[in-house]
Amino acid sequence: MALTLKSGFSFDYDNLFGEGKVTQADLDFYAEDLKKAHEAMKVMRRDGFIKAHLSKDGNPEKVYFSKLPYITEENGKLNLNSPASIQKLHDFTEHLRNNTDVVVSLGIGGSFLGNKVLFDIFCGEFWNTWTKEQRKGLPKVYFSGQNIDARRTGDIINHLKAMADHIGRKLKVCLICISKSGGTLDTMSNFMVMYDALQKAENVEVEVVAVTDPNMEKKTLLKQIAVDKGWQTFAVPDGVGGRFTVFCEVGLSTAAVIGMDIEKFLEGARDMDIACQNDDIWQNPAMLNAALKFAASEKHGRNIEVMMPYGDYLKSLSEWYIQLLAESLGKQFNKDGKDVCYGRTPLVAVGTTDMHSQTQQHQEGALDKVVQFIKVDKWANDLTIPNAFPEYQKLADISGVTMSGALEVARQSNADALKSNKRFNACFTLPELNEYHLGELLYLLAMSVAYEGELANVDAFNQPGVEAYKRIMGPKLQELKKSMGL
Ligand code: PA5
Repeated sequence: MALTLKSGFSFDYDNLFGEGKVTQADLDFYAEDLKKAHEAMKVMRRDGFIKAHLSKDGNPEKVYFSKLPYITEENGKLNLNSPASIQKLHDFTEHLRNNTDVVVSLGIGGSFLGNKVLFDIFCGEFWNTWTKEQRKGLPKVYFSGQNIDARRTGDIINHLKAMADHIGRKLKVCLICISKSGGTLDTMSNFMVMYDALQKAENVEVEVVAVTDPNMEKKTLLKQIAVDKGWQTFAVPDGVGGRFTVFCEVGLSTAAVIGMDIEKFLEGARDMDIACQNDDIWQNPAMLNAALKFAASEKHGRNIEVMMPYGDYLKSLSEWYIQLLAESLGKQFNKDGKDVCYGRTPLVAVGTTDMHSQTQQHQEGALDKVVQFIKVDKWANDLTIPNAFPEYQKLADISGVTMSGALEVARQSNADALKSNKRFNACFTLPELNEYHLGELLYLLAMSVAYEGELANVDAFNQPGVEAYKRIMGPKLQELKKSMGL
């Protein structure tokens, strides 16, 4: 059983729905809740309203991520992504092309994870070793700010300085500092360390671009510095939480740096949004995905979701999803203030790698998981396994097969084995790994957690839990400064 869209994108739920799995009776039990969740999504799309959603300051806050796929301007009213904002991103690509050697993208959480997905999928591991011609004049790209790790930050700085020593002219570096709140410790500490070190390096020329809340009345710290210093800025719009920002200028800044087809990416998201407006659950990928996972958790105790794409460069997609699911649904209190401690736990896995580490647990461990596979149907640049050692039968037996064929056989075998032992699993299939289908997939996952928030009656758009450590960390940092005599 699968829901297949016109584009070829599909959601195969055969090993998740039916006898001994989530049943029709389970879904019937939630029929009213599903109807309400679907209505709530309509209201969210229309008005940006989500019942009981409050910002971290305790004020009602709009939710606008579902507007992002639409590049529109009506009667002078610009959408969050408009023809003008997309043009600005294209201009940024051209500004960087043949003009900037290196971009360092600094951010954490929602200001990093989606960017890394785009880079890994469209650039791969060796982008920075390619010649400028191979990169079509676009810069090398490094990520920083996603930890407070002096060793790696120092490594990047030393690497850039060494690069500068070799090129016989000034190395042009663009630091893209991404922070919606504009003051996150992890991001800003790395940014300051890097900015300071590179400014002082004689043979490095530094440009800074800030991506932050654009509000001019109540400027973030980063916005204030950008205004003071005259840096170019991109916006993290109001009503778009960190984990939903891959479709706004947070993610799109990286898309522009690497010359991705931004319009196709948003088109995929848009077509998925349209599919997710279908009132029929069997034709609505987000409603179906959310309903099956919610029922699997509530009715069958499968409250861990292993996100397991097949393919090395898809691992960061799994990491992106971890944040989306964990921050959206891991909530102690529901919308009525009742202590529910809800939240399916997400786990990162990647095939085939983790078949050799985690699969034992998935196959025989506690019956508490849904394994969510992602597969790509047609890989570009496939390789055929040659008959390099014909005299060895075991190797000769696997020769002649493409690597993508072998990858899919491994995934299917994993799915079949899990199924044979009552282990729930499902699969999203992307016909190809391109901007359009990636847009479809990421948007589907974002919309699914929005549905599940309504089903579980928790606010999928806040993250009060992360404030707890922040309240402790601030004073502790001050204590540290004091103990150092500063
Ligand atoms: O989802 C979230 O809101 C967080 O993960 C943030 O993205 C993360 O803390 C970074 O915040 P900021 O962009 O404000 O620096």
